[in-house]
Amino acid sequence: MTKGIILSGGWGTRLRPLTCTIPKTLIPIVNKPVIERQILLLKAAGVKDIVLAVSVMGDILQNYFKNGEKFGINIQYTEEKSPMGTAGAVKLAGDLLQEENFFMLNGDVILNFDFTQMIKFHDQYKGIGLIASKIVEDPSRYGVLITEEKSNKILKFLEKSEYTPPEGKDVPMPINAGVYLFEPEVLSYVEPMKKVSIEREIFPKLANEGKLYHYAISGVWKDVGKPEELLEGNILLLNDILKNIDKKNLIDDTLDIEGKALIYPPVAIGENVVIRKNCKIGPNAIIGNNVYIDSNTEVKDSLIYNEAYINKNVKIENAIISDNCVIHDRVELKGNGQNLIILASFVEVLENIKLVAPPNNSITVCHHEIVREWKELNKL
Ligand code: GTP
Repeated sequence: MTKGIILSGGWGTRLRPLTCTIPKTLIPIVNKPVIERQILLLKAAGVKDIVLAVSVMGDILQNYFKNGEKFGINIQYTEEKSPMGTAGAVKLAGDLLQEENFFMLNGDVILNFDFTQMIKFHDQYKGIGLIASKIVEDPSRYGVLITEEKSNKILKFLEKSEYTPPEGKDVPMPINAGVYLFEPEVLSYVEPMKKVSIEREIFPKLANEGKLYHYAISGVWKDVGKPEELLEGNILLLNDILKNIDKKNLIDDTLDIEGKALIYPPVAIGENVVIRKNCKIGPNAIIGNNVYIDSNTEVKDSLIYNEAYINKNVKIENAIISDNCVIHDRVELKGNGQNLIILASFVEVLENIKLVAPPNNSITVCHHEIVREWKELNKL
């Protein structure tokens, strides 16, 4: 039976300050941690045993998933004192993975596809490694795959800095989607007790030996490295979920909404949310559990995590508001396009404060900060 390992031990530096208090893989994507969504997809493909390779904030992950019983799957952990690199992490889990083939996932990828297709494909080709690939317009941001069309073999694996687009201009290419299926033999390629990168040190070797294949995945795929990708990924997945269930919004039955509040789809709303009168919610608003939104408040193109308290006459646009934030009356949080307003956990924004993102930058506020006045922004 195919097993799984999910890498969940990175620092998540590009998503700071959101990742100062929450491990990157536990960040909610349409109100469920990105890694939980992956676990459920693996389970749907018949995987029963999963290893979570944790390091940074590993205790928070272990506390969330425990032995996996609640999620209907057996979860074990390997723990690195400091991150051992993507191959080092797998090597550490060697004892748990040496008998069967196994999926390996970067725990920060938003996916919605059928993993059984990948197992079938792997059975046909019998390489040591199968990399899920996706064709993207801007391949130089990712690991690029130079492939042989007929055989699906990867002839060359080029990490980010090693790929130069022809004539300096990006053209669509298949890239590494951060999802793999391996034979246990791959473990013998990794030196033990060393920090090793699977992308830089193992894939080029396997490609040289003709033992690396790729499988083009369909459906939603988004790597959440940066905050703007987090917002885009949420909206992408929300639209995909809604398309499949043929609904306009994804709203929990517990929603307590006063008359005259308006919902503009697509919107997702978690459990025990209260929305008072004359609010305008959406489009593209994703609101977590136990959130209170007082009257005349507007939220669009934004993510609000759990336990937020948002007062009256607030305007929120192109923002990410992490868990347990408090926003007082008449606050305006206004990002534009990819330049967002990002509040980490437990931030409080006092009355009448207006945070407007400049044309080329996001505004970020660290966890537990109180935004008292405008001029403080220079320090943030
Ligand atoms: P950045 O610091 O912003 O680059 O993020 P990151 O630390 O998450 O790195 P990256 O995006 O390259 O990681 C992809 C996936 O692999 C994420 O799910 C990480 O948690 C995981 N990961 C990265 N490095 C390690 C590691 O050394 N050990 C383990 N166990 N997981 C890792």
